Amino acid sequence: MRARAIRDSANGLTRASTPAPLKPTAVPLLNVQDLRTHFHTRNGIYRAVDGVSFSVERGETLGIVGESGSGKSVTCYSIMGLIPQPPGRIVSGTALFDGIDLLNCSPRQARSIRGKRVSMIFQDPMTSLNPFLRVSEQIIEPLLIHENISRPDALERALTMLEAVGINDAAKRIHYYPHEFSGGMRQRVMIAMALITKPELLIADEPTTALDVTVQAQILELIGKMQRELGMAVIFITHDLGVVSGLCDRVQVMYAGRIVETADTRTLFKTPRHPYTRALQRSIPALQSKGAELYTIPGLPPDVSKNIPGCAFAPRCEFATDLCTAANPELVAIDATHAQACLRVQANETLACS
Ligand SMILES: Nc1ncnc2c1ncn2[C@@H]1O[C@H](COP(=O)(O)OP(=O)(O)OP(=O)(O)O)[C@@H](O)[C@H]1O
Ligand code: SF4
Ligand SMILES: [Mg+2]
Repeated sequence: MRARAIRDSANGLTRASTPAPLKPTAVPLLNVQDLRTHFHTRNGIYRAVDGVSFSVERGETLGIVGESGSGKSVTCYSIMGLIPQPPGRIVSGTALFDGIDLLNCSPRQARSIRGKRVSMIFQDPMTSLNPFLRVSEQIIEPLLIHENISRPDALERALTMLEAVGINDAAKRIHYYPHEFSGGMRQRVMIAMALITKPELLIADEPTTALDVTVQAQILELIGKMQRELGMAVIFITHDLGVVSGLCDRVQVMYAGRIVETADTRTLFKTPRHPYTRALQRSIPALQSKGAELYTIPGLPPDVSKNIPGCAFAPRCEFATDLCTAANPELVAIDATHAQACLRVQANETLACS
């Protein structure tokens, strides 16, 4: 990770102190273009992800931030082949991983990448842990599937990995069932499962939201440590902009199924341009002045099954004018590493907070 974390001891917030300027490479590890994933339900078509493009470089940490329902998980589930079809449908897009399009390759090719070269950890460990199987069986499964390895050797690797993620007395506990672990320990087991094949890309979907603050910090540190050791890229999904500041090299902000701003972490925190990013930043409790009333973004995210004319943030945006409903804002580059999708910013208007 290029961004170094400085812990703000007063509030536990971490900040990026040395972001290196981004140098996009000709062939990134992951390159997603125009991804659209919709859900066809009795109540209408939910455009959960609606034209998302981004890339991830080798070894980089990309944060994906946005309120609940903005399409963060659906973006990553689409890449991982985890969208239930029906009701889901990947309407368009490509997701090139090391040159192979995960959305349009053969099932055999996809299997050789997903779960081995790309793996995922979830907010709720029970999503990926089977309550009826001992941890030992579950943790060696990806090795037995993807590598030509004997069972004893796989168990040995599993044990080493459990120790690496901080499971005490791993030789005994590897034979436990998931319910015999605490929440934080289950999260560690899931991380061990995701990392055992030494993936090149780890997708971490809100891996700490359900945990208390101390365990949260330990898990984040663990992911950072494993990332440094394995040299892998990480996509880190969270609704908490405060969390990404110390963890991520780059951040992309999602709203209503689209990316509304993307930049390296320092730029995003120092000079956010899109009003939604500014509002998210304003709502980080640790950045609010002592004694002041806590700021929250007014209103709610839009219903993505409805046709939204113009900017989807307009009903909640303090800067909205008639211009904002006239056109659908596209993500436009400010410079090589910073892009945003506000029509008024694109018209070079200065948006001063009230
Ligand atoms: N199985 C489904 N059926 C219908 N709609 C769905 C389904 N899964 C997701 N959606 C739609 O996709 C939208 C985006 O969901 P997603 O899970 O990606 O949000 P998110 O940004 O990850 O939110 P959160 O922070 O709550 O996890 C939801 O608001 C919902 O409208
Ligand atoms: S386009 Fe208009 S409504 Fe949308 S973020 Fe910009 S100012 Fe706000
Ligand atoms: Mg989610």
